[in-house]
Amino acid sequence: MLKHLLTDQDLSQEEIWKIFELTKHLKKRFQDKDFDSLEGKQKIIEQEEPLRSKSLAMIFQKPSTRTRVSFELAMTQLGGRALYLSSSDLQLSRGESIGDTARTLSRYVDGIMARVSNHQDITELAKSSSVPVINGLSDSFHPCQALTDLFTIWEKRRSLKGLTISFVGDGNNNVTNSLLLTSARLGVNLKIGCPEKYKIQGTILDLAKDDILKNKTKVEIFSDPREAVKEADVIYTDVWVSMGRTDEKERVKELAPFQANQKLLSFAKKDATVMHCLPAHRGQEITDEVIDGPNSIVFDQAENRLHVQKAILTFLLK
Ligand code: CP
Ligand code: NVA
Repeated sequence: MLKHLLTDQDLSQEEIWKIFELTKHLKKRFQDKDFDSLEGKQKIIEQEEPLRSKSLAMIFQKPSTRTRVSFELAMTQLGGRALYLSSSDLQLSRGESIGDTARTLSRYVDGIMARVSNHQDITELAKSSSVPVINGLSDSFHPCQALTDLFTIWEKRRSLKGLTISFVGDGNNNVTNSLLLTSARLGVNLKIGCPEKYKIQGTILDLAKDDILKNKTKVEIFSDPREAVKEADVIYTDVWVSMGRTDEKERVKELAPFQANQKLLSFAKKDATVMHCLPAHRGQEITDEVIDGPNSIVFDQAENRLHVQKAILTFLLK
């Protein structure tokens, strides 16, 4: 059956765990690279290249470093290939419909990954596509990021049971929304520290409601960042000005008290892990001292985008 990954809720709890286990396996294989111990070339091809001869179209309406490189290398390392398609170079830019683009690409490739400005675009793409569509970030959600985030926490802590993530900063963006939906689905508690004006939307909380109840997840919103980081196991932040926003000056001023800095960390647990989806605006939402500090796992998190992407692709395309 055709399966898309448009929002975090397109995967059940069981499917997320399947992806995490697969990530762990693929990451280990990649790090070991012990080709000599495998019996015969066929085995290497089957195990190392589960996406042999598969192809992925990658449409980008916005810039990207991690998503673009990790998806492209994930396809290559699994035996397939990826095509980078900037939306401004496609006939989309001359008015061809999203539906016709999806219908055409579906005749050529085995999957479509898209980074879009408006979430509506990715739902439209999926409606007309006969191959899986993966959301590589929209204005509303960033599910591949949240999967990597929770996988990374699981990898570092060995369990997600009873953990609390504290997100400080812009509580109303794609990364926060996805973090909430995936955390709620996996039963991880989330504390969001943000100004009232940048609070997560009620519609997103509504989406997570059933998971929050079922998995007994605690979601709390704080206007005091110190309260938000208290007793949390992970401190997470993201840019204050997401791609496409134009109100930088105002945001920087209003979000300043929510900067992840050494002072804020002094209110958190000593071993609280620091995360950021990147790109970071050093000196705005996070200081050099914190992102480069001993508690930061930011670049392990970035590396894991590659390993998780491989598992997502194998799960959806194979
Ligand atoms: N975190 C993330 O999606 O990074 P890019 O914008 O570089 O892809
Ligand atoms: N919230 C950020 C995430 C970047 C990966 C943005 O949308 O720009």
